[in-house]
Amino acid sequence: MIIAIDGPAAAGKGTIATGLADHFNFAFLDTGRVYRAVGLAMLEKNLDPADEDLAEKAAVSLSHTNLHTLLANPKIRDEATGLAASIVAARPKVRKALLDVQRNFAHNPYFPDNTKAKGAVLDGRDIGTTVCPDADIKFFVTASDEIRAKRRFKELQLKDKSVIYEHVLADMLTRDKRDRTRNIAPLAPAKDAFILDTSDLDIDAAIAKAIEHASTFIS
Ligand code: DC
Repeated sequence: MIIAIDGPAAAGKGTIATGLADHFNFAFLDTGRVYRAVGLAMLEKNLDPADEDLAEKAAVSLSHTNLHTLLANPKIRDEATGLAASIVAARPKVRKALLDVQRNFAHNPYFPDNTKAKGAVLDGRDIGTTVCPDADIKFFVTASDEIRAKRRFKELQLKDKSVIYEHVLADMLTRDKRDRTRNIAPLAPAKDAFILDTSDLDIDAAIAKAIEHASTFIS
């Protein structure tokens, strides 16, 4: 059983994905972290994330043994890493290198302790359209630009009090534009996705709505 969740930054995908994975006892993969790991590898080696061949190398060299461990680096959530991720994510060679990693997880999901799971929840930008067009359940999670920027701002403020809302909004819109307009696997809802707008929903209400929808497919 595969649940695919796509949508723009800070729409609530991760929260909903975690809520669904916990509820159904499925394994969860945040595929943004996979792209972030490539972006971070480039930044840490002082390499230009736009260099497609070097970024492909970084993607290929990602360990396939336990993605959960690999993706736990706290720097992975930094804004600089997010921007680098959206640059490497626009490169076809990088996307190709990461396709199998994601598909393997979807079809053979496992928990952080390496035990097998009976289902997978993947969140990202192209899970329902490209990575797992065969997913059993698809969501497209969205929210207004302002609400998403406010959520990301709050999250960043916990780590850095000097963060500026206008910068967060501008960075988010830049990233969204790159994700939506790139030539390969642009961010868009799958035709058969359930659209879940979380603008007016708190965390519990958003998760409850997602579980209600998914429950119609899972006995
Ligand atoms: O969800 P996030 O902010 O962690 O994603 C980081 C970047 O990775 C984002 O700008 C788009 C890209 N990404 C992608 O292109 N495809 C995915 N399946 C997941 C993320």
